[in-house]
Amino acid sequence: MVKRIRKKISIAVDGPAGSGKSTVARRIAAELGLLYIDTGAMYRAITLKALRAGISLYDEAALGRLARETGLEFKEMPDGSQHLFMDGEDVNEEIRSMPVNDGVSLVAAVKEVRTALVEKQQELGARGGVVMDGRDIGTVVLPQAEWKFFLTASPQERARRRWRELKAKGLNVSLKEIKANIARRDEIDSNRKVNPLRPAADAIHLDTTKMSIEEVVDWIKEKVGEGKTNVL
Ligand code: DC
Repeated sequence: MVKRIRKKISIAVDGPAGSGKSTVARRIAAELGLLYIDTGAMYRAITLKALRAGISLYDEAALGRLARETGLEFKEMPDGSQHLFMDGEDVNEEIRSMPVNDGVSLVAAVKEVRTALVEKQQELGARGGVVMDGRDIGTVVLPQAEWKFFLTASPQERARRRWRELKAKGLNVSLKEIKANIARRDEIDSNRKVNPLRPAADAIHLDTTKMSIEEVVDWIKEKVGEGKTNVL
């Protein structure tokens, strides 16, 4: 059982696309009374802005400028969900579209983009009390986080989860297309030079292939509840 949390802890949740980390991180934040920050959404917003402006996703200088100049803000909606606002516009839906899915890894590999967004993320996490999910949270953004989790799942299962998610939103994409997109993103995210997808040395690993969201949430809450020095 997780006990009442007095000290505002920070939790880093990293892992590849479709590992379940966003859903899990959101739920953990809600249940423990912490702020959820979806860092992938920030890379997605810069990608969307570049696509709209016709900026090449290989133009590193222009992408870096965009990341520095763009206003990014998470706002809580009346239903309790968090939406990302880009320069004042709610882009929560559009950043999940296929063109953004296809381009975001290129944008996230640009050093200047990462420097600008990591700085914003560190500002958001500076006072603690956050659950932040991404690829480099435990290693770069919040290396001091009290808890670091690294979630994985088989590529097959991750593709199926993303496909179900998009289908539920009414998007008509094939499982084959999703598999190819996930494989390509894994490849770019894991092999890029700047802050690649990598578990922190002190991260707790969990393979979620055969687990439901509820099971993963309970497992993490149990872990956090066990850490007597971090909670209570
Ligand atoms: O978690 P996601 O699928 O929304 O992430 C979108 C992309 O952004 C993904 O290809 C990896 C990248 N990303 C990153 O490089 N670092 C982060 N902290 C979060 C996401």
